This record gives sequence, structure tokens and C-alpha cells, in this order.
Amino acid sequence: MCGIIGCVGHGADTTDVLLEGLSTLEYRGYDSAGVAVANGSVDVVKQAGTIDELVSTVQGNTPDGAVGIGHTRWSTHGPPTDENAHPHVDCTSDVAVVHNGIIENYQALREQLEAEGHTFESDTDTEVVPHLIETELAGGAAPEAAVRQAVDQLEGSFAVAAVISGCDAIFAARHDSPLVLGLDETAGGDHHYYLASDVPAFREHTDRVVYLNDGEFTRLEPDGWTVTTLAGEPVEKAVDTVEWDPEETGKAGYDHFMQKEINEQPRALRQCLSERVDELDGTVDIGDLAYLNPHGVHLVAAGTSYHAALYGAQLFRAAGVPAQAYLAHEYATGTPPIGDELVIGVTQSGETADTLSALRGARARGARTLAVTNVVGSTAARECDDAFYIKAGPEIGVAATKTFASQLVALNTLSIGMAPSKDDREAIAALRDVPADVQQVLDESNAAAVAEQYLDSEAYFFIGRGHQYPVALEGALKMKEITYKHAEGFAAGELKHGPLALVTSETPVFAVVTGEDERAQKTIGNVKEVEARGAPVVAVTDGVSDVSRYADHVLSIPESSPQTAAVVANVQLQLAAYHTAAKLGRPIDKPRNLAKSVTVE
Ligand code: F6R
Repeated sequence: MCGIIGCVGHGADTTDVLLEGLSTLEYRGYDSAGVAVANGSVDVVKQAGTIDELVSTVQGNTPDGAVGIGHTRWSTHGPPTDENAHPHVDCTSDVAVVHNGIIENYQALREQLEAEGHTFESDTDTEVVPHLIETELAGGAAPEAAVRQAVDQLEGSFAVAAVISGCDAIFAARHDSPLVLGLDETAGGDHHYYLASDVPAFREHTDRVVYLNDGEFTRLEPDGWTVTTLAGEPVEKAVDTVEWDPEETGKAGYDHFMQKEINEQPRALRQCLSERVDELDGTVDIGDLAYLNPHGVHLVAAGTSYHAALYGAQLFRAAGVPAQAYLAHEYATGTPPIGDELVIGVTQSGETADTLSALRGARARGARTLAVTNVVGSTAARECDDAFYIKAGPEIGVAATKTFASQLVALNTLSIGMAPSKDDREAIAALRDVPADVQQVLDESNAAAVAEQYLDSEAYFFIGRGHQYPVALEGALKMKEITYKHAEGFAAGELKHGPLALVTSETPVFAVVTGEDERAQKTIGNVKEVEARGAPVVAVTDGVSDVSRYADHVLSIPESSPQTAAVVANVQLQLAAYHTAAKLGRPIDKPRNLAKSVTVE
């Protein structure tokens, strides 16, 4: 979704700080961008295109002022044009506003404002906000009261921030869309304050943060900050410290964030396991979650996280706990079966609107909820009864990679911790080997050479059974989102029930086959079926079975249990997708039409 940044106290550097913040937020949206800086007037520079293009435009014409706001957009209302870029201004150009979310009653508000004589320049829902503020100011309201009264009229989801000419303050409010404050205070009173949709935007300046909750309003000025309810009641806020370093949000010499994040997986997985797994005792420590003793588990998630949820449901069922994975939007809008199940939201960002909606619905029906998330202080983490962190570190590439691997490992830890069994010692030993096994794949993979062979393919298919079925789905999702090629994942057994009609000599089939049990043998049967139709076969395998006899190429992984092999096999598919996209020259970290965190339903 869109990214918001605001800063106070930087004087002549305000615009530079905003632009730097926007470039770290570009993963949230990248079809247009802009900044507004307030002094005696409000100066706005905005345009369609990337942040780099905005930086070139701003050079030599830098707006100057004590406070400023910026925005990078992922279009919802109106195409990506200069006019639709944020910030939006009122008729007098004295008020500028940035917004993330959807204002559901904007049409009615716009008609009312137009009838009052306001002129609109864009197709966006956001533009009603500066005009509402303008009306309140014209009616005699002070700046803060004018913003509050405008926000009070909005329905839908929003994180909204405003600056007003002649006023050294940023005003902002949140409802169903994230906002976090950054505090950099010195004893000498030389304070800098920040406001953003995500911590990376200002992490370089400070690690002290305050997470806003729904229904809260903030005022940031060079000499202080306040948080109140929308009605103006003071709110006591905790100041948290962010645990990761600013370098973690850079590319560290890699060509792409996705490439860096694929390579960070061994470290991410070690972090996820550290202090939770005791190999000697054959136990895991998941704190009080171990006593939840759920009678059943529903896992709700979207996209890549849904694939992790499908995998997690298999783990819980194997441990004797009835479990089912649901697409969050279907769970939220359907009539999900609900008894006294634990509802687990699997969400990297903790901000996905579909998943939050499913979790909120479950809570409203009395279910206990647990967020499995990467982002400390995220909405899911704060709203659920409990949070279990996957500890992957910040993920910037739009395509999820290391967080998927960490979700799988975290779900293993949770299922073992909540439903102990006699096989735990073996499962824990296998988990401890995963980081090294992933490293081996990263060091030895021939995925780049395999990708080179199939750049012109019409479509790519992925098959797997059991734990490897979610891996097949995930392999296809990675391939389609970053290469723009048609890719589909199937449960291997389903192939003959329809999809086989699509298989030709132009459609490579990636088959994930680990071990040599009945599932592996059946998948090998499916491999023979596609081979008979002339499809090139790429086997992702530990070499235990004889699948390589039927494959044109082999992507090898070390031998391990079926659950842990899934984590490692997935890395080969990430690399295949990455190298295909790189050789096709795709914008890997910013695939068209996608954004990292989808905060609208
Ligand atoms: C794909 C991808 C998306 C997300 C989905 C849910 O690479 O990243 O499919 O997995 O939008 O996001 P989270 O996990 O933040 O809830």
C-alpha cells in the first residue's frame, strides 16, 4: 500500500529527510510520489513515477520549511498521474494532506464540497481531506481543531497526515492503517520527530518509536509531541526500542533486496530458532503459548503467508490438533466454522487488511487469536491476544522470501510447543539443521543455469504433495509475481484432473520430491505423466528417490525430514524465479501492480 513519512525539526534539510524516508518506503508503493513542506506557505512537489525521478525534479528547487510530509503511492482511486500523486492540497494551497487507505464516503463528501464551491484537481478519495480542513479553517477553527473535525467526517480506513501554512506542526490520525512515530530527543532540546507508515522510513535517525492505535491523533512540533484520542482525550503511550539496525534495510552490495533476502535466510532462520529450541532436551520454549492447549486451530492468511498457513495446518494435524488453513478474505466474509478454536493470523507485515479483518471477526465471535508475524508493534501483534514473532528482520523486496521460510520454521516451533509428541526430539534435530541446509543450497545451487534454459517458456508449472504442496504453490507465486509469466502450482495428484491438458513441451514442470515414501512415489508417477507429454521436468529433490531418472534437470537439496525439506526446497524455487526474472530484466523488487503491505480489503 502507500507509504507516508513526516518529519519535524530538520530545518533546511526537511526535504532531503523526506526523500530519504520515501526511498526506504518505496516497497509500499511506487507509481507516484511527492512531498509538501510548510513554512509561511505550503510548497508541494509531486509527480507520477519513481522516487528517483522525484529527487531529480526537486534538485535545485528544494522546498524549505520546518515541517514536512511525503508519500509514495500505490493507486487505488484514479490512475498514477501527476494530479493523483499525493500530497493533495485545498483550494487555497494552504493545506496539504497525505493518506494511506480508502475513504469510503469520499463520493458523498466530494459532492457536498463541490456544491459548496470547492474545486477538485484529482480523481482520488484523499483530496476531500484538505478541502474539509479548509472549510473548518474558514469557519474559524484553529489548525488542530480543523484537522480533527475533518478526520471526524471520514469513514473507511486511513492513516492521514496534514501540514498547514504558518503552523510548525504535523497533525495525523489513524484508523485501520498503520502509523508510527519516531522520537530523536536531546537534552539540549534539539529534537527531531518523525511519522511514518513503517519504521524503516526513519530508522536511520532513531530507534525510539511510538505505535499509534486506531482512533488516535498526534501532533508533532519541534518542541514536543502529543497523542490524544480523536475526541481530544490525552493518551499515555509507551516508547518502544526497535531491535534491528539501519543497515538491515540496505542492499548490502546485492543487486536486489530480494536477492539479499534470499541469501539472508540462514541467519533469519537461526534468529527464529534461537532461545526457542533445546536440541539436547528435545523441547521447545514458546512461553505461555505452550499452555493454550487448543482443541482446534484455524490459520488465516493471504498470499505467501497463506501457503505457510497450509503448511502449518498440516503440522498441527500431524500433532493431533484438528487444523485448517483459510484464505483470510474468504474467512472474513464467509461464515467460517467457529467453536473454541485458536485462530492464528499468519502475516509477515501484521498489517494485511484481509487478515486483520478475519482476526477481528474471530475475536468478535469470542475466539482466542494469535498473530504469527515479523513486525513488532504491528496491528495484528497488538490486537491479537498473543503474538509469536518470526524474527526474520526487515523484508523490503515486495516478493516475500525469508519471511516465508521463517514462517514455516516458526509454525514448526509452535506446533511442537503446543502439542508435544514422542517424535519431537527428531523434529527438533531436523529443525536445527535447516539453516545449514539452506546455506548449502545457496552455495551450490544451479538454479541460474536452469532458469537460463526456460526463459522463453509459455508457462511454468509446479507440483508437490503433502508438505511440498504449499511449496509448489509458493514456487509458482514467486515465479508469476516477479517474471510476469504464467505460473501455476498444483497438488501433484490433481494434475490428471484437468491441469494436465495445459502441459506441453513448452511448459517446464518443477516437481518437488523429497524422501522416497508413498507420497514421493506417487509424485514420481505424476512426473512420468508430464514427461510422457513432452514437458521438461526440473526435479527439486534430496536424491533419496530415483526421480532424477525422469528429470531433465535436478535442483538438489540435502536430505532431511519432509517438513524441513519443504523449507530448503523452497529456496531452490526462489532462486529459479529470481534468476528467471533477472535474466528477463524485470524490476524484481517492485513488480508491477503489487505492493508490500496490502492495507485495503
Ligand atoms: C507474495 C507476497 C504476498 C503476501 C501477502 C500477505 O510474495 O508477499 O502474497 O504474502 O500480501 O502479506 P502479509 O504476510 O504481510 O500478511
